[in-house]
Formats: sequence, structure tokens, C-alpha cells
Amino acid sequence: MKVAWPIEIVGTGAYLPDRIVTNDELRQYVDTSDEWIAQRTGIRQRRWIAPGETTLSLATAASRAALADAGLTPQDLDLIVVATITPEHQLPATACLLQAALGCRWIPAYDLAAACSGFVWAFQAGAQYVVSGLAETVLVVGAEVLSNITDLQDRQTCVLFGDGAGAAIIRRSPDPTRGIVAVRLGADGDRGRLIYIPAGGAKEPASHRTVDERLHYMRMQGRDVYKFAVTQMEAVIAETCADAGVALDDLACVIPHQSNLRIIESACERLSLPLERVLINIDRYGNTSAASVAVALHEARATGRVRAGDWVLLVAFGAGLTWGAVLLRI
Ligand code: ACO
Repeated sequence: MKVAWPIEIVGTGAYLPDRIVTNDELRQYVDTSDEWIAQRTGIRQRRWIAPGETTLSLATAASRAALADAGLTPQDLDLIVVATITPEHQLPATACLLQAALGCRWIPAYDLAAACSGFVWAFQAGAQYVVSGLAETVLVVGAEVLSNITDLQDRQTCVLFGDGAGAAIIRRSPDPTRGIVAVRLGADGDRGRLIYIPAGGAKEPASHRTVDERLHYMRMQGRDVYKFAVTQMEAVIAETCADAGVALDDLACVIPHQSNLRIIESACERLSLPLERVLINIDRYGNTSAASVAVALHEARATGRVRAGDWVLLVAFGAGLTWGAVLLRI
């Protein structure tokens, strides 16, 4: 949908745990190889937390970096939205704990669960608060510790995921030509269980049996998700640009969810979008779900891949199934 939301990203930050886990290292858990993983996914390594690190500690580090980048203090924030599927606890929201960890005022803080689409959804939600006037300064975070929900006996999933966090701070832009010009969000719950964690929720509360049967780990039907991802990513990119009347050629940078290099490549090939204009860091971090677009956005700003006035597209898909895209002049 075409919108006119004059917002500005005034700061970004990211935190990736120090511990690098190579493809070769995963061979101690499952029958796999560096060649298979690199060829099928583009992943060379990922980061896993060290003892003592958690979703909250990652989110806090990324948020502090974003605040420093923006030249703001925690007292300046009016709202926090944390996108995550690996919250610190099931209760309360990680965003509330982050509010306390940062030393903010008693501002509203909530979590948003849209899996890999989480940061894109949280970003557009944060922007809406700013544009409506409900908040002046919003902190949007994507943070995950996927290594905690990855089954090291399942070679189809355990090679894909990593840990990390990214954050962005949004404010109203005094320049009406900057900001978000189109948003597309969607979900298909009929395919909800293509990627899911069977137990630990209301349907299957935790028990000795659920632990014994490894039902607290993520399950995924990879091929079905792959097919969905390629077609949906292509469609959402094209439709979002069409909504705003922005040509694909005008995009300075597409920042996609880093799920699988082949998914990104095929969607771009169908759109004739050169890969040089797509931010790719999956080789270093794997799939970090809600953190992925946040980390990539920070990288794009920090390395000068995107500059003030550029057209930038954030796009993601994930469990739910969910998808989302935000087109903005940064
Ligand atoms: N190492 C070696 N062999 C493997 C591995 C592995 N890690 N994993 C699977 N294989 C084998 C399979 O057993 C199969 O062997 P077979 O032919 O003897 O049966 C063969 O490789 C091919 O398996 P496929 O599942 O067809 O492999 P595919 O090319 O589809 O790649 C993958 C699998 C990487 C999971 C891919 O399907 C994919 O990326 N899917 C999308 C995942 C995704 O994007 N998820 C996003 C959302 S996640 C979220 O929201 C939290």
C-alpha cells in the first residue's frame, strides 16, 4: 500500500556474539559438509552465544550502539518494540526487560512475534507511532538466540540458524521527501506449521515427554518454505515498488531477510535485479530470523552502502507464514 510517512532512521546498531561456528564445526553434530551447506545456502559460518549471553544481552548491546549512533540517551526513547521468537522468558516481554536494562523512563515496550519478518513488521509499527504523534522517538529491535531452539540432531535446520541482534531508532523527518512510501504485510496461517515449535505453548505444555521427544526445537518443512519464499519475495518486492511508483532500477539497496542465498538469488534473477544492489551477509551470520534485516540495515548504513536520499527496500518472509516489505527514502 502506498503511504506517506515522513520518518528518519537516526541511529542503528548491531551486536553479534564473538563465537564463530564454522560449517566444519557442525560436522561434530550431524552428517553434513562445508560444501553442502555453502552450495545449498551460501552460509559459511554463523555466531552462537557464549555462556551468559541471552536475547536480552544481545538486544541491549545493539540498542546501546544504536543510541550512541543517534547521539541519544535511553531517556529520549518513547517506545520500544522488540521483534523476537526467542524471548528472554515466555513472560514478561523482552522489550520490558530491555527498557529496564537500558534505564529508560516507564515507556511502553512490547514484543512482536512474526519470526523472520519480525523486524520489518516492528519497523513499520514503530514508524506508525512516530507519524501518528503517539511517540517521538522509537527504538525497534530484532534479537534472537536461535541456537537455543535449534535441534543439533536435525541437519536440515541446524546448519541454517545463528544468533544476533540489530536495532534502529526512528524519528519524524523534517524533510517530507524522506521516509516510508509503501508497506506490504501479509500472513498465511494455513501454512503456520511449515515452521514451528511443537511444544512449550498452550497446545503442548512442557513435560518430560515433550523434552524427551525434542518437541521444543524448531521443525521446518524446508522445501515447501523454499518454494514459498522465492515466489513471495519476488512478488512482494515488485508489488511494493509498484505501490509507490518507484522503479526497481531506482533502488539503491535491497535489504532482504538472510534465509538462504539461493532464495535471494532466484528472486533477484526473476526480477532482473543485480545482486550488487542487494545486501548479503548470510555467509557470515546465517539466518538470524528477526535480527537479520536489522543487522543488515545497520551494516548498510555503517559501510555507506546506503546514504541519505537513497531508495531502500526492506523485505522479509518467515514462519507464520508471514511476509513484509517497507520501501523508504532513507
Ligand atoms: N547436509 C548434508 N545434506 C543435507 C543437509 C545437510 N545439512 N540437509 C539436508 N540434506 C540432504 C537431504 O537429506 C536430502 O538428501 P536426499 O536427497 O538423500 O533425501 C538432500 O540433502 C536434499 O535435501 P533438500 O531438503 O531437498 O535440500 P534443499 O536444497 O531444499 O535445501 C534447505 C534445504 C537449505 C533447508 C532449503 O530447503 C531452504 O533453505 N528452505 C527454506 C528455509 C527458510 O528460508 N526458512 C525461513 C524461515 S525460518 C524462520 O522463520 C524462523
